[in-house]
Formats: sequence, C-alpha cells, structure tokens
Amino acid sequence: MAVVLPHKPSRRSFMQWMAVSAGALSIPLLTEQELAAQWRGKDKAAGPPVSGGVYLDANENPLGPSPAATAAAQNVVASGGRYYRYFTTELVRTFAEQEGLKPEYVVTYPGSNEPLNYSILSYTSPKRSLVTADPGYEAAFRAAEAAGARVVQVPLTANHEHDVRAMIAQAPDAGVIYICNPNNPTGTVTSYEAIEYALAHKPQDAVVLVDEAYIHYTNEKSAIGLVAQDKDVIVLRTFSKIYGMAGLRCGFVIGRPDLLAKLKNFGKVLVPITAAVAAKASLDDPTLVPQRRKIVADIRQETFHWLRQNNYSFIPSATNCFLVDGKRPAQETMDLMSDRKVFIGRSWPALPTWVRITIGTREEMLKFRAAFQEVANLPASS
Ligand SMILES: Cc1ncc(COP(=O)(O)O)c(C=O)c1O
Repeated sequence: MAVVLPHKPSRRSFMQWMAVSAGALSIPLLTEQELAAQWRGKDKAAGPPVSGGVYLDANENPLGPSPAATAAAQNVVASGGRYYRYFTTELVRTFAEQEGLKPEYVVTYPGSNEPLNYSILSYTSPKRSLVTADPGYEAAFRAAEAAGARVVQVPLTANHEHDVRAMIAQAPDAGVIYICNPNNPTGTVTSYEAIEYALAHKPQDAVVLVDEAYIHYTNEKSAIGLVAQDKDVIVLRTFSKIYGMAGLRCGFVIGRPDLLAKLKNFGKVLVPITAAVAAKASLDDPTLVPQRRKIVADIRQETFHWLRQNNYSFIPSATNCFLVDGKRPAQETMDLMSDRKVFIGRSWPALPTWVRITIGTREEMLKFRAAFQEVANLPASS
C-alpha cells in the first residue's frame, strides 16, 4: 500500500500517518484476489489460469463487463495517454443523480478495497476498535490490525444477520462498526433497521461502515439513504461483482464530505479512464442489474436444490457466494477440489469444515457439483 504524507500535515494527520506507516510495514493490507491466492497455493495463484480450470474462489463474475461497458472501454483506449478527469466526473454525476446525492458525497477509487482500508485506517487506532461480524470479510480486519486497533469479532445471529446489538455492546470503544451487507462469506442480509440501530447507539465519533459490494444481488434497501440524511455512515460500492469489472477496477465511497475528507490523507488514487467509462455505461443500462440478478438467482436456486437433494449442509445466501460444509478440514476440501481443477475457498476459523463457493455459470456449477460429490464420497482423512 502506498502511504502518502499529506502535503500540509496537521499534527493529528501526521501522527496517524506515522502509526499507519509503521503498521503497514508489519501487517500488509490484502485484497480479495490476494486472500483467494493464499488458499489456492502459490504455484496455482501466480501462474496463468489453469486450462479448463473452474474459478469459484474470489467472488468474481464470469460474465465480465456488459457489452456496452466493454465497447465503452475499447473506444476510449486510444485516449489512454490522457488523464481525462472528465470521465470520472461524468461517472460521479450519473451515480449521484441516480441516488439523489450531491456529487461531493461520492468519491471514485479503483475498486472498493482502497476506500475500505482507508476508512478503517482513518477511524480506528490503538484506542478505537473495529467491530465486525464473524465470519466476515478479512480485508477489513487486516486494515484495523495495521492501524494497531483491537478487532472485535461478533458471531452472526442464528439467521446469519449481523448481531448489531451485541456488536454495539461489546465494543464501547469502537471507531468503526463494519457491516458488510450482504455479508461476505455467508451472502446473508442484515436489516435496514439493524443499521439504523447501530447509528443510533454507536459511540460518539464512530462511523458505521456499510459495505454494499453484493447489494445488487438482492432487493434490499441501501444505506445510501442514510448518507443522504447526513448520518455518520460511510457506504462502499464496487463494480467488481454484479457489473463484472473486478479486473477493470472501479468503486465508490459514499459519505458526508467531512467524513470522506479524512480518507484523502492516504492519497488520491485515479480510476483508469477505461474503468470510468465502462462503469458509466453500466449505470446507464437500467436492465443490466435485474437481468444479472436473475441469472445468478436461478443458478443459485438450482445449486441449492441439488445440495438439499444430496443432504449437503449449506447456508442459504442471497448473493453470488455461499458456504457449504465439506465435512473435513476446509483446506483438505479445497485441495481435493483443486486437484479436480475446481478452485473454491476460502475458509473461516469459526466454521473450520465449511468452504465458500462463488456462483459461476451453469456449466461451471455442474463441474462444481461433480467434483464436490466425488470429494464428499472419498473416505474421511485420518
Ligand atoms: C465485502 C467486500 N468488500 C470489498 C471488496 C473489494 O473488492 P474490489 O476492491 O474489487 O471492489 C470485496 C471483494 O471481494 C468484498 O468481498
């Protein structure tokens, strides 16, 4: 991670920069791709894609960018010698208009991992903890550890919602209450009322960070409405999931300008113009999200039907990933599956035999089923 000293540092931002740069040396920040690679094994992660491999381990979208997004990116490549800030401005204007926000409430980044890290680095410290769900998205924990903050992991409720009441009760020192909605890895939803509860009961000066990377797969109400009400909430959005642009890189952080100002201490990261125009073309197509939501929902339902028929335990999810019980140590299931060229993962300490599966295409999920059944029928490890 590049940590940039602010041009005119205040004492506070300088101290923050010192703390972060010291932490960043010992605790590297991680992206979804790096987290997936850790489990896939170095040889398979670093090399080119395995021929015939089925990649269901990084919550990517096998459909890729929409045809309109692809054409927009291709058309702008020849202008790649220019910074052309205009494309990003247009993207922000479009999104802000669609969401009923002023443009200054929206900042672009190449994906949502940077603003996730920077929000946590800004609002946690050795004195202000991160409170998060267990299991939850690990990139957030790493950022808090890099800031020297305590990480309070609170188990999800029995129906796999964030246990917001327990989160608030267990972290009176919280600087960030991180609610990934829907959650990664369970793909389960936390109610809008629970987010409102967190805002009403959080410690003063804490922010509620709502990560909506997967919200388009559901019909849930977005927390962006709470941003419009000027609450202490920061929302993250990405084009890496339903929009299929994980490799193109574009995302938003959305919040009150005074809350977002702190993130700028870590530097401004430009979005490539190819990503900016592809993102705008995606937003301009009102049919894209509902179409893709249905494609994924249909394949998810077929997969869940098959899992039920075969008595495999899984957590019903509302997104493009779900957890399934492999009934043996998770790393062993992942290795046996990767021997069959089906890459799945990751695993979380709270559920040591469960493995995350990304929903792929129908053909990919048929390959997943065949490999999973074969692995399940192998004798248990000694
Ligand atoms: C919950 C969550 N937040 C943020 C991200 C970051 O993704 P990106 O940087 O590609 O937008 C991911 C990636 O998988 C994720 O699962």
